[in-house]
Amino acid sequence: MNQAKKLYLETFGCQMNVSDSEKIVALMKGIGYQRTDDPHHADLVLLNTCSIRATAEQRVYGHLGKFKSIKGGRPGLIIGVGGCVAQQEGEKLLKKAPFVNLVFGTHNLHLLQKMVTAAEEGRRSIETDFLDDEKRFDLFPLSDSEGGVTRFVTVMQGCDNFCAYCIVPHVRGREISRSAARVVEEVRALAAAGVTEVTLLGQNVNSYSCKTPGEPGFPDLLRLVAGVEGIERIRFTTSHPKDISPELIACFAEIPELAPHIHLPAQSGSDQVLRRMNRGYTRADYLAKVAALKDACPEIQITGDIIVGFPGEDEAAFQETLALMEEVQYADLFSFIYSARPGTKAADYADDATRAEKQGRLERLQAVQKKTTLARNRSLEGTVQRVLVEGLSSSGDCLFGRTGGNRGAIMDGDPSLAGRVLEVRITEGLQTILKGEILHV
Ligand code: 5AD
Ligand code: SF4
Repeated sequence: MNQAKKLYLETFGCQMNVSDSEKIVALMKGIGYQRTDDPHHADLVLLNTCSIRATAEQRVYGHLGKFKSIKGGRPGLIIGVGGCVAQQEGEKLLKKAPFVNLVFGTHNLHLLQKMVTAAEEGRRSIETDFLDDEKRFDLFPLSDSEGGVTRFVTVMQGCDNFCAYCIVPHVRGREISRSAARVVEEVRALAAAGVTEVTLLGQNVNSYSCKTPGEPGFPDLLRLVAGVEGIERIRFTTSHPKDISPELIACFAEIPELAPHIHLPAQSGSDQVLRRMNRGYTRADYLAKVAALKDACPEIQITGDIIVGFPGEDEAAFQETLALMEEVQYADLFSFIYSARPGTKAADYADDATRAEKQGRLERLQAVQKKTTLARNRSLEGTVQRVLVEGLSSSGDCLFGRTGGNRGAIMDGDPSLAGRVLEVRITEGLQTILKGEILHV
């Protein structure tokens, strides 16, 4: 009997890449590859890469070195690089890493089977053209999912915002939305396969279909997805503060399936920095949207992203960011030191803060957030939360799930409860997790 060929796949970066990797696994299955966790036994190694910060990009080259040495002892090994670094580097990557067989950009997953087959026959290939149609969304048999009760569903891709620091519009291309009918079709197929939670995914979901006359906008899409039989919970990410409309905010009060959580990256609390970042909103605009969200949905949990050390950020501007955090009370915050990306507007800005100053700001900010996160988790003690059970916890001795507010929770219970939304009383709020007990099944 033919033994299945083995795929070793590594994914870097954002949720869009995680979602693309799910598609890659399904596509490779279609041409006879089964996944392995051990690159030493692989016939095909694929890296799905991220270039959002220089560190993410350097990591890719570090990993490629590792696979080069594995290939030394296993000459037939096919190595492919996809995602944002592949998009950005293109031909350069093939030159810098001659042991790489194929390079595929962010719009080229639909060509991947053909490219791998060519590599099996000894041909190298590269595909990095941008597509302006829906072809890139619709790739694989939907019911062929890897299991699990929660899945991403891509609703739009690309970004037209050109924030001054951001490489995404350069490597993911212009915004394109998928038709609502295709989104609903995918959600139905997932629900039929046992999925109970979907996260609608896009670089800027709030501008979903803005450029496609006649198609429903994002609030209508949420209503359509909420109507799919079997879907108990909907999330979406990522939102741009300038594009979140009163109608979308009202959805948090109106649609019971919409989880009370929003990821709303502020990036900075200083108007001067926000202007230089080309974010299109002021600190006051951002805070007004946060207030409206809390008004519509008092239990909403807000998470965000902050960049420290953006060119021109001084201590006073940084203090404004800390004050904004104080006011918003983020449930969790992702924070980064600014990293200049080639081809972006800010790459030309004079950058005067020292590395030590930036590192210091990051540490101070993270210390503030750590206290807020713990306080917020503690404040949930004694409350009853609706937890979607995802399965066994990583230690394997209890169940893991998420509250509507997207806080991780562990509790005792039977693994057969996976996929159910249950009432759980929170007994302890720790720094990174909640502990709870199931009230009834
Ligand atoms: N440097 C540092 N952080 C960045 N991000 C995006 N571009 C950069 C950059 N050049 C952060 C933003 C964004 C998150 C995904 O990554 O905070 O919201
Ligand atoms: Fe990047 Fe700004 Fe687009 Fe987000 S909205 S992907 S930060 S350019």
